[in-house]
Amino acid sequence: MAEADKQDTEKKDFQVNVPMQTPGFFLRGAAHLDWGMKNRLSRIFNPKTGRTVMLAFDHGYIMGPTSGIERMDLAIPPLVPHVDCLMCTRGAIKTCICPTSNKPLVLRCSTGATILKELSNEIIGVTVEDALRINAAAVTTQVYIGGPYEKETLANLAALINEGNRYGIPTLAVTAVGREMVRDSRYFGLACRVVAELGAHFVKTYYCEPGFDEVVAGCPVPVVIAGGKKLPEFDALKMAYKAISQGAAGVDMGRNIFLADDPVAMTQAVAAVVHKNQKPENAFEMYNSLKADHARSK
Ligand code: 5RP
Repeated sequence: MAEADKQDTEKKDFQVNVPMQTPGFFLRGAAHLDWGMKNRLSRIFNPKTGRTVMLAFDHGYIMGPTSGIERMDLAIPPLVPHVDCLMCTRGAIKTCICPTSNKPLVLRCSTGATILKELSNEIIGVTVEDALRINAAAVTTQVYIGGPYEKETLANLAALINEGNRYGIPTLAVTAVGREMVRDSRYFGLACRVVAELGAHFVKTYYCEPGFDEVVAGCPVPVVIAGGKKLPEFDALKMAYKAISQGAAGVDMGRNIFLADDPVAMTQAVAAVVHKNQKPENAFEMYNSLKADHARSK
């Protein structure tokens, strides 16, 4: 064992006076998670800011060829470099996004409903094996608190969390809103808290006022907001700013990005609000200036 003998004579330095660091973790509610979970969450949320800009383009799974993303292969790739994370179905990722993009994916796993029928009547349609095969950073399903299939959608969430936990894949819970529900802080506060208690690792909900700060405070995991229906660009930036100022950890935005006059400029403006705390006025100025640059270079 000549090699072992040689190693014994080498000088080793254990730096015995330097205590080993035991750093905390930057995301709320995630300090006690396993390494794989934390690693995946650190791909979704930027560890420097603790926030994320997620691009949602999963609309087609219930709405078919949604305006703005009729051609996902054309609409989405130019936006990819400007976001932290993608949220879509396995059909979309496999057909329209180049695997070399290396953006983390939050994989839509629910199915069973379309706009032609009751939206809350969903099941989980993607196995955790397929999520792993796609290298998803997280899986997601939605719950309809107070909806006709409340129990089923909560059971879907619980099942997805159980499966994800086996492999260290975090789960995003989306709080969808049934047609009759009032979109206020009482409702969203209830929905966000329920899904966090079930074990969701982060939550997507809608901005509401007043009281969004209380929705976030009552939810022990990060909250990101959906964009919702298309708004004028300035209003969408204002909404993102208000949500971030009141504690949101980012956005998971779809229509307000890909239906913007200039979706690439809008993505960059939203990112400036989320990661750089830019005021909506500054972000809108940035949007207009990028838009003018793009128009000139066409
Ligand atoms: C619906 C979703 C959608 O991805 C999301 O709401 C779409 O984003 P946006 O509202 O910003 O268009 O999760 O349940």
